[in-house]
Amino acid sequence: HKAKMILDKSFKISEINPKIYGSFIEQLGRAVYGGIYEPTHATADEHGFRKDVIELVKELQVPIIRYPGGNMVSAYNWEDGVGPIELRPKRLDLAWSSLETNEVGTNEFATWAKKVNAEVMMAVNLGTRGIDAARNLVEYCNHPGGTYWSDLRKEHGFEDPHQIKVWCLGNEMDGPWQIGMKTAYEYGRLAAETAKAMKLVDPSIELVSCGSSGSGMATFPEWEAETLEHTYEYADYISLHQYYGNKENDTANYLASTLDMDNFIKTVIATCDYMKAKKRSKKTMYLSFDEWNVWFHSNDQDKKVEPWSTAPPLLEDIYTFEDALLVGSMLNTLLKHSDRVKMACMAQLVNVIAPIMTETGGGIWKQTIFYPYYYTSVYGRGTALHSIVDSPKYDSKDFTDVPYLDQSVVYNEEKDELVIFAVNRHLENPLVVDVDIRSFDGYQLVEHIVLENDDPKAINTIGNEQVKPRNSNQSYIENGTLVAALPKLSWNMIRLG
Ligand code: AHR
Repeated sequence: HKAKMILDKSFKISEINPKIYGSFIEQLGRAVYGGIYEPTHATADEHGFRKDVIELVKELQVPIIRYPGGNMVSAYNWEDGVGPIELRPKRLDLAWSSLETNEVGTNEFATWAKKVNAEVMMAVNLGTRGIDAARNLVEYCNHPGGTYWSDLRKEHGFEDPHQIKVWCLGNEMDGPWQIGMKTAYEYGRLAAETAKAMKLVDPSIELVSCGSSGSGMATFPEWEAETLEHTYEYADYISLHQYYGNKENDTANYLASTLDMDNFIKTVIATCDYMKAKKRSKKTMYLSFDEWNVWFHSNDQDKKVEPWSTAPPLLEDIYTFEDALLVGSMLNTLLKHSDRVKMACMAQLVNVIAPIMTETGGGIWKQTIFYPYYYTSVYGRGTALHSIVDSPKYDSKDFTDVPYLDQSVVYNEEKDELVIFAVNRHLENPLVVDVDIRSFDGYQLVEHIVLENDDPKAINTIGNEQVKPRNSNQSYIENGTLVAALPKLSWNMIRLG
């Protein structure tokens, strides 16, 4: 099998906003307790944070992390999570039927985020609460001092404001599972008025209006159109959420899911631009794809979890090799839309549908999906380039004309580097791609990293990583053409410089 690709420095999509490599920590399951925070752990630092987790998060170079939810935020009282820990109330977390001790809250999370070099993307509760709680939280976090809430922060030991820039106006407010779910009209009005008040407290913040919880929602994309009618003026981004799974065990169809993701993004852009025209606005709405991943492995086992336990193992998907391929493709899709997608969060980061897994009281390991996320985050910085591609295609149960080759291309001008991320979706055959690199005269092959495995269902467990990258020596440059050899069913990063 053969494919062709043409690349040129001047075929630019956009500068890549590093925030597309964001992630998410929800107060859910073992993400916080037993994940990032475990004061009795052998590696715990002076704040009770696991240093082994900090190290792996830093490796991923995650620029922004969404917090505290997720579904959890829609019934959360942020005041429960600040002040002396011994006075914090234990609460029923209705979203996940768990017990929330509130040992970790806003200040602790801001402290942890600094340690991993990430900024916080803070979500406010628009389920059970509204304008008042949200504007108070902005004042508590961002106001320098001399007011009730900012002075309370100082009293709690945080002299300097946290300066949280990005705020989500609620979470998945279109979802029937959401506590305080709203109609598009109800949400649009509440979000707009909340946004207004939050920006009066701190005009420098950026706001994310809730889009649909997935491309499959019955109210998509009318939800976007109707809510933006109210929030367009106040919001800077609209959110997209999407999870995929291979429930039917149809790998060819599963790996084509990014065609749906691509269409989802295009439809949201079209809806935003329709609203821009309708409002005679000069402002362009950007997209925050602030929940994306594979999620399905843990669905059944989660139904058996004892309710009202503290930090139960929830959403602990153990990822397979084929999941890593789809995650690689999802990252490619974000990069191909980097002119409008300016932020994105892999959901989530530790233990809960996560690239990083820990044992409470024990060790740590990298899931299969860690690798495409790691390489794309670390090397996918600079300018995203268009690629003109001619690839053989296939049809699957839900999709037609699925290219076997899925790719994204990044030109890092600063480092004088060209990076190609490529998935070969073919289950049996390798794919040889002839890449015309005309404007990259004199570039040499620096490395070809490949993730491959004979078993699509191979997994990583503690101490036994079946799925990990290796170097390939199968690709080469000849007469201005890169000949890229992609093994069957593989994810690849080819770096030239
Ligand atoms: O990330 C897990 C959950 O998925 C989040 O809490 C929610 O926003 C989404 O439905």
